[in-house]
Amino acid sequence: MNWEEKPLRGQHRPNGDASAAQTPICRPLYNSADRGVPRTHYCGIMRGADAGEAVVLAGWVARRRDLGGLIFVDLRDRSGTVQVVFDPSENAGAHAVAGRLRAEYVVAVSGRVAERDPASRNRALPTGDIEIRPVEVEVLAESLTPPFYLTDEPAADETLRLRYRYLDLRRPAQNRNLALRHRITQVIRRYFDRHDFLEIETPSLTRSTPEGARDFLVPSRLSRGAFYALPQSPQLFKQLLMVAGFDRYFQIARCFRDEDLRADRQPEFTQIDVEMSFVAEEQVMAVTEGLMLEILERSDTRLARVPFPRITYAEAMARYGTDRPDMRFGMELKDVSALVLDGGTPAPAFCQATTGGGEVRAIVVAGGAGTSRKVLDGYAAEVARFGLGGLGSVHFADGGPRTSLSRFYAPEILERWRTEVAAETGDLLLIAAGPASKVRAALGQLRLHVARERGVIPDRELAFVWVTEFPLLEMSEQEGRLVAVHHPFTAVHPEDRALLATDPAAARARAYDLVLNGVELGGGSIRNYRRDQQMGLFEALGMSEAEAEQRFGFLLEALDYGAPPHGGIALGLDRMVMMLAGLDSIRDCIAFPKTSSGSCLLTGAPAPASAEQVKELGLEIGPAKV
Ligand code: AMO
Repeated sequence: MNWEEKPLRGQHRPNGDASAAQTPICRPLYNSADRGVPRTHYCGIMRGADAGEAVVLAGWVARRRDLGGLIFVDLRDRSGTVQVVFDPSENAGAHAVAGRLRAEYVVAVSGRVAERDPASRNRALPTGDIEIRPVEVEVLAESLTPPFYLTDEPAADETLRLRYRYLDLRRPAQNRNLALRHRITQVIRRYFDRHDFLEIETPSLTRSTPEGARDFLVPSRLSRGAFYALPQSPQLFKQLLMVAGFDRYFQIARCFRDEDLRADRQPEFTQIDVEMSFVAEEQVMAVTEGLMLEILERSDTRLARVPFPRITYAEAMARYGTDRPDMRFGMELKDVSALVLDGGTPAPAFCQATTGGGEVRAIVVAGGAGTSRKVLDGYAAEVARFGLGGLGSVHFADGGPRTSLSRFYAPEILERWRTEVAAETGDLLLIAAGPASKVRAALGQLRLHVARERGVIPDRELAFVWVTEFPLLEMSEQEGRLVAVHHPFTAVHPEDRALLATDPAAARARAYDLVLNGVELGGGSIRNYRRDQQMGLFEALGMSEAEAEQRFGFLLEALDYGAPPHGGIALGLDRMVMMLAGLDSIRDCIAFPKTSSGSCLLTGAPAPASAEQVKELGLEIGPAKV
């Protein structure tokens, strides 16, 4: 997948502002470090049509090749590289300076753009038709030998690259990722401005905003023993902005969550945060879809379906075994509980599962009839991770069905299964039985595993889907009590209001997630906007009135002063860029990311505070954690 702005005609600056005129004069370079380099062009933008132009460039030595006589230097800045040719017979002085150049030296070069002779053109390089014939060259700064090569593909392990992040960011690939992030951010700002949203900043030093993770706490010096919490999201502030009458808010907001990190999670990340008054789900979704379409306007990827399809949480779990289905391919989970009990001597594992309140589900692997025993064992190991004892299989081979279940089912029965599950000859049926939640989770995971293994996922396609009607509450195994699935400010589904008092765990929420290619890109909800609604939810969560007042009194009070019905959403900006740039790690689209253990290898954060600071804050530090 690749999100790139289509090249703009006449683009002379890396941000694409074609209106900025260039000064085609070759000014002297003397002492330019002190007076500012009189630069005329970025390195990566010159083409054949610029031949003859006098230019002043500045950048880093990406590569230097000394061929005895000629010295070739690839000069790099953020727009790309250009080749500078130092010829002793043309300019002995410049050639002598070039002899001293090493990788990552910072230099300024004045000279003339020359067309390369046809034999030495480089098709792989945008500036490959030309080269620079220097008049003058000046070393602005020398460099130590870099600890790794700054090639497009990372040539060193990530730990080393994060330690020297400023060097890693010089790599063109990193440069492209951050430029893409910038461009997407600009589209977002323009879009919301056009739709009458106000960009409003909210505090970073605040009170706990529960989003399901641990808070990062900041001790207060002025109020000893008290702590600010860094916001997990601007959730409550944006709701208060609706009470204040701002009607439509957005913010590109920094959020902080102390949680276990994964490839798509950072402790400090950015949300495109949105809130709207007088709306229901429909309007929030429409504004979000409009934004995504605008962001994708210049992408070279194909949108699977517009408007984005919708699926309820219950349906997603039943058909895909997950609340973030990857809709780029089929292979849906089919309920075969009744089918496997109908005829033959039903396999004991299937009987056990269904009589125990569980279910039997299956996926059809198109063209998978030839799957080997070894690969099937791998599949079985995959579902075993979810606590399932085994995985049944039926190979609908040319000569008739072959199966691990032949003791229980005759070929005619298997043939009937084939019709019922819409499998073709040549396909493979994989069957799992057990408690519904385990069967769905296991098959959902297996579906992804098999699809990746068989290469059936179209990688230049973006399949968005809205997942709606999430459960309002769920039992937290860790805490042994009900917790909010989204957050505790979410409104209950109108049809399930009564359940709040009788069976709160069964109630659905007015919450929705936007899922892209199997990744949760964003989530939001319609909120409680009256005190009684909000208190009803706090009560369902087992919160006493006193506790609710103590933690969220300011919100409840605001709801007493006339709050409009409102709702919103937050999209993960880092995740969005990661997906649109086709990156495997969220760290590659963040300038200064943290490692999976939450540290910054460049600055050494987190670091111990001085004894004085600790004392001033009235804190006592226990023994170091090992
Ligand atoms: P939620 O908690 O679903 O909703 O977060 C919204 C989106 O933020 C991104 N995200 C993250 N990205 C990187 N690293 C993380 N640690 C991380 N955690 C979340 C995801 C996610 O979908 N206040 C609500 C929104 C609302 O109700 O309006 C909220 O924060 O892409």
